[in-house]
Amino acid sequence: MCGIVAYIGNKQAYPILIKGLQRLEYRGYDSAGVAMIEKDELNVYKCKGKVGDLVKFIGEKNTKGTIGIGHTRWATHGEPNDVNAHPQFSASQNMVMIHNGIIENYAPLKEELKKRGHIFLSDTDTEVLIHLIEDIKQKEGVRLGEAVRIALNQVVGAYSIVILSKENPDELFAAKKGSPMVIGIGVDEFFIASDATPIIEYTKNVVYMEDEEIAYIERGKDLKIKTIKNKAKTPYVQELEMKLEALEKGGYDHFMLKEIYEQPRSIKDSMRGRLSSENRIVNLGGITEYEQKFINAKRIIFIACGTSWHAGLVGEYLFEDLARIPVEVEYASEFRYRNPIVYEDDVVIAISQSGETADTLAAIELAKSKGATIIGICNVVGSSIARATHAGSYTHAGPEIGVASTKAFTAQVTVLTLMALRVAFMKGTISASRFNELITELEAIPEKVEKVLLKNDQIKFIADIYKNSTNALYLGRGYTFPVALEGALKLKEISYIHAEGYPAAEMKHGPIALIDEEMPVIVIATKGASYEKVVSNIQEVKARKGKIIAIVTEGDSIVKEMADYTIEIPETDEILVPLVSVVPLQLLSYHIAVMRGCNVDQPRNLAKSVTVE
Ligand code: G6P
Repeated sequence: MCGIVAYIGNKQAYPILIKGLQRLEYRGYDSAGVAMIEKDELNVYKCKGKVGDLVKFIGEKNTKGTIGIGHTRWATHGEPNDVNAHPQFSASQNMVMIHNGIIENYAPLKEELKKRGHIFLSDTDTEVLIHLIEDIKQKEGVRLGEAVRIALNQVVGAYSIVILSKENPDELFAAKKGSPMVIGIGVDEFFIASDATPIIEYTKNVVYMEDEEIAYIERGKDLKIKTIKNKAKTPYVQELEMKLEALEKGGYDHFMLKEIYEQPRSIKDSMRGRLSSENRIVNLGGITEYEQKFINAKRIIFIACGTSWHAGLVGEYLFEDLARIPVEVEYASEFRYRNPIVYEDDVVIAISQSGETADTLAAIELAKSKGATIIGICNVVGSSIARATHAGSYTHAGPEIGVASTKAFTAQVTVLTLMALRVAFMKGTISASRFNELITELEAIPEKVEKVLLKNDQIKFIADIYKNSTNALYLGRGYTFPVALEGALKLKEISYIHAEGYPAAEMKHGPIALIDEEMPVIVIATKGASYEKVVSNIQEVKARKGKIIAIVTEGDSIVKEMADYTIEIPETDEILVPLVSVVPLQLLSYHIAVMRGCNVDQPRNLAKSVTVE
């Protein structure tokens, strides 16, 4: 969702802002804008559409200045148009603000300001806040920084904001609550952004802002931070580990394809230093201190959204199977509004690629307030969720730019497998031989995923046949049921074909009514406990003339006889099948979307990082 970027230093700000906005494009947005100050002149340009449209719109106009702010907006209050795009102006038009988040009490604040003569040009909550700040500055006769602090004490909601003012041409004012913000510290220059991607090529030294903190950034001076309650804070400077190459397409047509192909490596990275079949150990350093909590847990609750929720479903099977702990898997958005029952001896595992999903973050706070232990499984290092949890394990998949999550999912499932194995080992719910068998198999997964990637041409061929379908059904059972859900989600997200994932046996209770000769049914029919049952389900589809695309174990001949197309994947232990079987489904969706001319990396209406609830 909305991306913010800002610069102050001795370089020209505009190219840095535009490059930064391009780096943030992956978050999802529908309009963009920038503002720079040069010689007392505040130049603001914004328009509906992509960053490329903004650059065209600006053309040869004056973009000079060594201080500036930039924004990509994902519409919440007010439709995506030029006026609602950020930066938003104050009443005097002397200052502008960019904002990520939602000011929930904007309506009463707006009414109050209107009564006092304020005229609003846009439908945004952001404009209300910058008007309020300027109003306080004038009314109270305080400096801008103090006016920001006073205003933020009146605000309910989430924000990460940056303010640029004509009267303060050597200062940026930034603040955060709920929405992410990171400040890059260079030599005589500062960068501000929603995440580290726009900063990485200039500096590795960053400060992650905490909630309710305000940063006062003045040219040539040290970074100053204080809370909205006026308490000075010492900035904690950290070093970024991210590599610039990870943010480039590296020869692939799309980030999504690159990320699908990165999986053998990213799965390996998720296991690195945590698993050794030779020494027969699984160890997750990040949760060592909390192992006893797992051992004593009467229940594990997973909270997550989207693809991460699907990983949680795989986690349910893993933890119940291996560690014999009852598991519930909750949509974060449902959990937080349901007055849920949470006990102090519950372990809550929050799964999130971005580590910024607003609902997941709020669900964590709720569970924390009830005394549960909160463990995070996040991909983005230093993200809000990673910091809000008691402990956790990073997935180490590297930056995921494609909106449709791929390598993050397999990395999450890998970490969940390691975690379940570790807990099972500590609890003694797994035999030594089974433990050894599983860790040996797990180590072999990257190579098996590599083999699946070799099927790309065959998958592309199948994609061509079904690219014009209007519906698709995905079926799986046991460990592959979450994979069916994930396969269906991938297809609808990027190709806009309606798709549903179902437990294969449940098909009889509804979706079977939809099956006809036009309907592709994608079945994960790998060898395992439910294999025969799935074979029966395939027959039920065939009897109704449905088209079967089956994901089968190498060497399978039974399903091959029945299916219209089969994609073979290497054999592995049943509990590890999700890691291998999801890959052909990712590729199938990818090719169908490309063939339909869809914007694979930035599908319409979707955002990578959902920072509003
Ligand atoms: C958005 C993304 C999905 C992601 C979901 C949860 O919908 O488009 O790819 O699965 O949010 O995000 P998280 O970062 O918490 O895993």
